[in-house]
Amino acid sequence: TRVAILISGRGSNMMSLIEAAAAPDFPAEIVTVISNRPEAHGLARAASAGIATLAVDHKAYADRPAFDAALDAALRACEAQIVCLAGFMRLLTPAFTQGWHGRMLNIHPALLPSFKGLHTHERALAEGVKLHGCTTHFVTAEMDVGPIIMQAAVPVLDADTPDTLGARVLAQEHVIYPASLRLVCEGRARIEGTRVVIDEFAL
Ligand code: GRF
Repeated sequence: TRVAILISGRGSNMMSLIEAAAAPDFPAEIVTVISNRPEAHGLARAASAGIATLAVDHKAYADRPAFDAALDAALRACEAQIVCLAGFMRLLTPAFTQGWHGRMLNIHPALLPSFKGLHTHERALAEGVKLHGCTTHFVTAEMDVGPIIMQAAVPVLDADTPDTLGARVLAQEHVIYPASLRLVCEGRARIEGTRVVIDEFAL
């Protein structure tokens, strides 16, 4: 399966996907990494790993539909079959998300449907939740709402800061994102209505 990764920043989840896909038995090949920010550190990391990279600078486009059209064209040009959002910090238009329905994944640093949006670790600490975590899901028109593929939970400790909690969550992101991509590429995670049904698997 030909997979493209969209990033905006440091790209640690991107690297976890690239590293997983390097294994001979992994059912996906990372064909390109695209960033909406030309200066994103993740682009250099992907290039060092031998992956083709591309910047599609959102500032060069008049509006969201024009940017999304350029992104869509870039994804089709590299013949991507699956798209993974990995710290991609742009809202996407419904036209774009519908075009990739069932074929675009995202990772979110919270246990959805709690803490959609930004600053999830700060908000989890402020709410006093005792479990926090991360979620992979299929992308739909509404942000952080699509069918959930996998989740991992971590404890929230009394001494946690957003940084220490975020690091604990991030380690789990790097486990469930490659595992989720594998399930999707193997056809073992399927959307049924608003849910994802998953065949048996082991991490
Ligand atoms: C991660 O926490 C991810 O869950 C969120 O944005 C962050 C990106 O980090 N969507 P990285 O660029 O993958 O290191």
